[in-house]
Amino acid sequence: MKFNTKTIHAGQKPEETSGAVMPPVFFTSTYAQKAPNDHQGYDYARVGNPTRTALEKLIAGLEEADECACFSSGVGAIDAILKTFKPGDHIISTNDLYGGTYRLFTQVYENYGIKFSFVDMTDIGKVKDAITNQTRMIWIETPTNPLLRIIDIKGVSDLCKGKNILSAVDNTFASPYLQQPLLLGADVVMHSTTKYLGGHSDVIGGAVASSNSSFMEKIRFQVKTTGAVPGPMDCYLTLRGIKTLAVRVQRSTENAKKIAEYLDNHPKVGAVYYPGLENHPQHQLASEQMSDYGAMISFSMKENTIEKAVSVMSKTEIFTLAESLGGVESLISHPASMTHGSIPKEKREEAGLKDSLIRLSVGIEDIEDLINDLEQAISS
Ligand SMILES: Cc1ncc(COP(=O)(O)O)c(C=O)c1O
Repeated sequence: MKFNTKTIHAGQKPEETSGAVMPPVFFTSTYAQKAPNDHQGYDYARVGNPTRTALEKLIAGLEEADECACFSSGVGAIDAILKTFKPGDHIISTNDLYGGTYRLFTQVYENYGIKFSFVDMTDIGKVKDAITNQTRMIWIETPTNPLLRIIDIKGVSDLCKGKNILSAVDNTFASPYLQQPLLLGADVVMHSTTKYLGGHSDVIGGAVASSNSSFMEKIRFQVKTTGAVPGPMDCYLTLRGIKTLAVRVQRSTENAKKIAEYLDNHPKVGAVYYPGLENHPQHQLASEQMSDYGAMISFSMKENTIEKAVSVMSKTEIFTLAESLGGVESLISHPASMTHGSIPKEKREEAGLKDSLIRLSVGIEDIEDLINDLEQAISS
């Protein structure tokens, strides 16, 4: 099955008793057993639910993974991955990453003795230099949030091979429609399904997919034991969202390319961060490992102050000022005070994230309306 067909059909057959085309929402916490442990594959809904199974099979199909486990949020999924490690283990991560991931790493897991190095992973030499005998995972987020840097998934995954180091990719920004990390050699792929997979800003969720069966056994153990599982209605909404993933991402990417060009040519706009622009430092790599460049853009104004950035963000009318991304509607946000507020200012600045940065999640509205909206906010 090819990708677009999979978004509709992978892991989903018409329901057996009624022929319902959509998987039913199984609202149940438990399942009848004929005799102790003699059941139809489900014993208790923390461990499994048929609506969740349908979603897990679908995401596994899209990511070319043997297995997937879904969680109640993206950070719940990252948390489950982190719980497979032990004190003394060392993890290398990109220095430009989602603020909630940074907070989880530094404010929770450092307290439990896991060690982290945050490096500029666009330079593969720096990743190599950071590897120690204790390194057990390299955490790749690409494109990075919010500076849209591109990390070489194959290059970093190759560094991990044969060394008992897991390569894991947060594929939230790209979605499997644009990038399939396991096909590039990564061991694990993770999603905040809240974003492009759900696609309608109406559900929070996360997923971990991999073909490494011993790792997935550990993840299943976390599902059962620590229980950050999604409810059946959330799984259903995400399933429904995924059916239109391809058309939504195609359309929002087309819009984003036009907006990136418009911003890049605007006399009042300073830096524009979009991997589809030829002047992006990793444009070539993005062209190789992604099938297109996605719908996230960051930029700063020539008048490079927080006041000017806040003024632009407060004036847009179609772009809603809000956290999150990947929905059908366009959003504008201020990473320094919103999504990345939990990263200390000096660390943010070290990684290149200035207080004047503005981030856009481009939706599927009409491009003329989106550009007119930005124009009135930028030029007024
Ligand atoms: C790249 C990335 N990873 C993970 C997350 C966390 O996902 P969630 O908000 O679903 O917990 C986010 C949320 O914004 C994100 O942008």
